[in-house]
Amino acid sequence: MKRTSLIALLCLVCCFNLIAQNSNNIILREDNIDEVIAAMTNEEKVTLLVGGPGDLVPGAAGYTRAIPRLGIPMTVLADGPAGLRIQPKREGTDQTFYCTGFPTSTLLASSWNPELVETVTTAMGNEVLEYGVDVLLAPGMNLHRNPLCGRNFEYYSEDPLLSGKMAAAYIRGIQKNGVGTSAKHFAANNQETNRLENDARVSNRALRELYLKNFEIAVKEGKPWTVMSSYNKLNGEYTQQKHGLLTTVLRDEWDFDGIVMTDWGVKDNTVKATKAGNDLMEWGNQVEIDRILAAVNDGTISQEELDRNVRNMLQYIVKTPHFKGYKYSNKPDLKAHAQVARKAAEESIILLRNEGNTLPLKGNEKLALYGLTSVDFVGIGTGSGEVNTEHIANMQEAMKSAGFTLDQNLAEFYQHYYAQQEAIQKMERNNRWGYRNIREEAELSARAISLQAQENDVAVYVLGRNAGEGADRVLKDDFELNTTERELLQNLSSAYHALGKKLVVVLNVGGVIETASWKHLVDAIVLPWSPGQEGAYAVADVLTGKVNPSGKLPMSFPMRYMDIPSSKNFPYGQNASGRRGERKDVDFTNYEEDIWVGYRYFQTNNVEVSYPFGYGLSYTTFSYSKPNVKADKDGFTATITVTNTGKVAGREVVELYVAAPSGGLEKPARELKAFAKTKSMAPGESETLTMKVSEYELASFNDEHSAWETASGTYQVMFGASVTDIRATTSFRLNKSQSWEVHDVLGNPKE
Ligand code: BGC
Repeated sequence: MKRTSLIALLCLVCCFNLIAQNSNNIILREDNIDEVIAAMTNEEKVTLLVGGPGDLVPGAAGYTRAIPRLGIPMTVLADGPAGLRIQPKREGTDQTFYCTGFPTSTLLASSWNPELVETVTTAMGNEVLEYGVDVLLAPGMNLHRNPLCGRNFEYYSEDPLLSGKMAAAYIRGIQKNGVGTSAKHFAANNQETNRLENDARVSNRALRELYLKNFEIAVKEGKPWTVMSSYNKLNGEYTQQKHGLLTTVLRDEWDFDGIVMTDWGVKDNTVKATKAGNDLMEWGNQVEIDRILAAVNDGTISQEELDRNVRNMLQYIVKTPHFKGYKYSNKPDLKAHAQVARKAAEESIILLRNEGNTLPLKGNEKLALYGLTSVDFVGIGTGSGEVNTEHIANMQEAMKSAGFTLDQNLAEFYQHYYAQQEAIQKMERNNRWGYRNIREEAELSARAISLQAQENDVAVYVLGRNAGEGADRVLKDDFELNTTERELLQNLSSAYHALGKKLVVVLNVGGVIETASWKHLVDAIVLPWSPGQEGAYAVADVLTGKVNPSGKLPMSFPMRYMDIPSSKNFPYGQNASGRRGERKDVDFTNYEEDIWVGYRYFQTNNVEVSYPFGYGLSYTTFSYSKPNVKADKDGFTATITVTNTGKVAGREVVELYVAAPSGGLEKPARELKAFAKTKSMAPGESETLTMKVSEYELASFNDEHSAWETASGTYQVMFGASVTDIRATTSFRLNKSQSWEVHDVLGNPKE
């Protein structure tokens, strides 16, 4: 046979094979995934592992690729976590595609109420579904290791239990709608500085007990469809390429059965990532397809590995609305969701200070409202965590609608000042997202303030901070107040107090700021974090007492930044001296503080804090009685009766802390093991709360044995109103120590 006819014959055979492979017209169904895999060429398989371009939903972060001949649709991935992030306007139509800006994750965590979080995300997930998106790239759930991490507002807490429970509830609510979530960023993505390359060097114990623990809870209890691996390295290896993390721990130990996708863009080694169990490259490109295919062809990626990832992808795809042909309306009920957002903010706002029952105000006072943020309210934050809402209510609007009479001159002064700042911001593009996170507060003379104090009944100063993806916050003029803010506080305090009038501060901040040096100047402090598009109304309702605050801190407020152990190795210095958001020479971060993060450190070492973990005031008071612990076959059940001993209705969060007996590993003085929240109780009313703790949850991680271990003996069980305010104590006896071995695959930090 001639050479040309041989080639022609080969081509014919190839074509025939392709046709034969799909001769039965194999179209993807939920129950024929293996058949579809058998019918796919390796080229097709690889395209499924690499995200592609798309225009189905403008503003979506990414897509998976379609294979029409097998009935595999494109699916759509878009950002969260405070709501769906898509483009609100589209060419060729007047229709708008705004989404609801719900409270940020830090505020949701402050509710200490997973049910509330689930209600919020049930509404949020409906927007995901109705706008034609298959996966919301949320929850963000890295721990608040250090307050300067620029994305802390997208995350929940310094405590892994609170963070994990909140994330699990978040996931359940979204996924109830038949759309997916992506728990991110897995793992140890605790800073933005050099986030693409930084090596987080973390001991196995700190990883297991803190930085993976919250993901473990979220994966086991929430069952997210997807997990997003982070950009950073972990103990010398990119998390995207870490088989031990993505396969051994996530899938083998925790039974995760969804897909892992990379974080967006830069990938160091697509082939290694694919082998490690990273199913989907986002956002993907042709080079990645070529690389994976070449590795399949030369055997670097085995057929089993390729098929494993493809199977994961297909199992994901058959669950999606796009696969099911859901006809989305593009018209979610934004009005109803705005109400959900407002209620959630109401239940989560924290009252930090209330000297002499300054709050609640009457609601009809003549009000001097200060601060640039009273106009330029920070509803959410910047970067991919921002949501395109139609409107974000500010404090001027909210206070007016609550019934206050605003000092009009002052209100206009701030409106003009805001307009000027906006103009400046338009000229400066200070970070990748085109925002400037820190804005200068307006200067007001002491004389002007004295006059305002005479004309008004009360002063409210809205103090703001913004932050977001791509940059960490800085110490000076951000964590710490700047000179203008300090002077303003000082002058307000003197002028209003001289006339026997009160000064209230509203902290519209994305993360922790320094409070110890100035809180004595003010009568009350309300902390709504970044409370979403309706949050300002919720703040107004807390100020008037229409809402009795019941939020509590999901992290500690230190006296000074350097009191936080991780401050010694967090790269705040580089940020403070360089331009923000740029790559810095921060190749690695040694998590030398190990497990001593947040209250675990402060409480154990008796280090004074400005406000402790779990702290929050109410307009009423509560008493705790009848603490009880009953051993059951897998740990214990604790109950406590809470009574409203004050004059108005209110809700209380009870935190259950446990102190382990000596004899085992060195442990924090107490650790949060459960929590519960009462319903709204009328004065005099009581409620008994029940909390369960399993033996496994009592265990600590012994690196030497690569095992979770409990010591036998007596465990102190404490019912706290905060980590420092224990109201009742009892104990639980564990007769036999236990251990649970796990794989030693995470790598130890290298010097
Ligand atoms: C962020 C992710 C986000 C993704 C898609 C990345 O830069 O780190 O959180 O989901 O972009 O927008």
